[in-house]
Amino acid sequence: MCGIFGYTGVKRDAADAVLEGLQRLDYRGYDSWGIGVVHDGLHVGKKVGIVGKTQSLPKSSVGIGHTRWATHGAVTEINAHPHFSSDKSFILAHNGIAENADVLKSALIKEGYSFITETDTESIVRLVEKKLSKRLPLKDAVRAAFKELTGRNTIIVLAKNGDIVAARNGSPLVVGFGARDAEVYFSSDIFSFAPHVKETLVLDNGQMAVYQAGAFAVYDIASGKAVRAKREKNLLKDVAVDKGSYPHFMLKEIHEAPFVLRQVTHESENKYRELARAIKKARAVYCIGSGTAGAAAAQIAYYLRVYGGIPAISLIGAEASDYRDLIGPKDLLIAPSQSGETADVLEVLEIAKQRGAKIASFVNMPGSMMTRLSDYAFMAHAGPEICVMSTKIFVSQIAWGYLLAKAVEGTLPAGKRNLKQTALTIEKMLRDKKYVSLIEDHAKRLSKSKDIFLLGKGQNLQIIKEGMVKMIEGAYVHAHAIAAGDLKHYAITLMEPGVSVIATISNDTVKNDTLNAVHEVHARGASVFGIAPEPEKSFSHYLPVPDSGETTAIVNVIPLQLLAYFMAVTLKHNVDKPRNIAKSVTVR
Ligand code: G6P
Repeated sequence: MCGIFGYTGVKRDAADAVLEGLQRLDYRGYDSWGIGVVHDGLHVGKKVGIVGKTQSLPKSSVGIGHTRWATHGAVTEINAHPHFSSDKSFILAHNGIAENADVLKSALIKEGYSFITETDTESIVRLVEKKLSKRLPLKDAVRAAFKELTGRNTIIVLAKNGDIVAARNGSPLVVGFGARDAEVYFSSDIFSFAPHVKETLVLDNGQMAVYQAGAFAVYDIASGKAVRAKREKNLLKDVAVDKGSYPHFMLKEIHEAPFVLRQVTHESENKYRELARAIKKARAVYCIGSGTAGAAAAQIAYYLRVYGGIPAISLIGAEASDYRDLIGPKDLLIAPSQSGETADVLEVLEIAKQRGAKIASFVNMPGSMMTRLSDYAFMAHAGPEICVMSTKIFVSQIAWGYLLAKAVEGTLPAGKRNLKQTALTIEKMLRDKKYVSLIEDHAKRLSKSKDIFLLGKGQNLQIIKEGMVKMIEGAYVHAHAIAAGDLKHYAITLMEPGVSVIATISNDTVKNDTLNAVHEVHARGASVFGIAPEPEKSFSHYLPVPDSGETTAIVNVIPLQLLAYFMAVTLKHNVDKPRNIAKSVTVR
């Protein structure tokens, strides 16, 4: 979703610095973008489509930029940010949704303000103008306007004298500092400016960052008082954000599965055990996530039930409202999240925290809101995941959940050994060129299918759901994941020649149940792609996967991700940025 970026400093040309920042934020998903700089007044260049150079911008030492993921108003240059104030004294970019924008707009129109865009953001611009007309300094005008907004919003304002004011209440806002503060960066994430800064600072909700007359300060928005905000050393300086030799980020990130598994095993055992104790003490344990992280949350709950003996419940972020009133002080919520900013999930966590529940999170993006409100904050340390379709993070989330469940069981060292072995197994699979090209062949066949069903049970149920998510996202194909045992209750009516069914089977106690479903669909003429340790008569196409015992489901993720990847490539889709979806969904 939208990204904001700002730069002030003498080392780089501002338009170039902001452009690079926006390119590094583009994984968040966007449809239009814009950059504004100061050079004898403010200059703005805006475009629909891919972030690139704007010829029109002059050299400057200060600028802001924005990638827009349209929510209010069509994808047009006019609606793209930053937006000018009527007198061109400042420009403003916004991330989030101003929920009371319409109310503000009607009132402002009555007061004589006119609007030219369809965005909710313009109400914020006009409101800041109104505050400035009362002779408030920029910082106070932005603060006063920001306090009137409802919803989750983060804004950045650049004045024509080069001052920058940014305010956060929801979407992330981070600041980076070059040596001796000669450069200051503002952004939606740390990775976007990581190579250039020595220190970083994550703003909390309700705080604003002000760069005025060459000095930086943080203020509390409610009181207006200066805050002593703690900077941290930038440890992400050398994190690569490029594809390397891979044609797509998705393929590169699938190949990083062994790395992310090892990262999970490097976490302190005491930390796992501390959370395991809290899980055992909790009255109820809820695992919550959205999209891919929702499937991961459900798999974590599965592992907690099976290995930890804990009746964990899984929730989808957007569908958790009926649980809110049930959550109490003795409960624990576990949230896996790549960004740590997903609004659907954050909202539930915030309410749960207010109601006294404890929060545990497993997040990849440093400095996120979820990490900050967690009592047990774990980091994935998986490096940036750029492809909008989540792959390595899913692997890392379920591996983390597996280890956590093993910690609850009291067998953490064995769990770590299993995961280290799993990393080697996956490495071998991915290195095997014949194996990968077999997957590519199957993907080409599947690309011709109009309907794809996925069957699985037990440890594989969430894995096929995630396989379904990847196929829908990447191949834009109708896919439907079904619990193998439930097939006979409804979807069996759809089984006929021409239908493709992917069955994921492991050597476990439910193997025969899935096999029964496979026989049933095969008997009705559907074509079965079997992902299993051994071939079966009913498979029309076979993809071997090694039996990895307790971690077999984690291994099974890889061929499913590769199938979706090669389908997207075969169908010539935009693999790293599928249409219509955003990586980080910071609005509800
Ligand atoms: C979006 C993305 C998904 C992701 C979900 C949750 O919908 O497209 O890939 O799984 O958000 O994101 P999170 O950052 O919480 O993992």
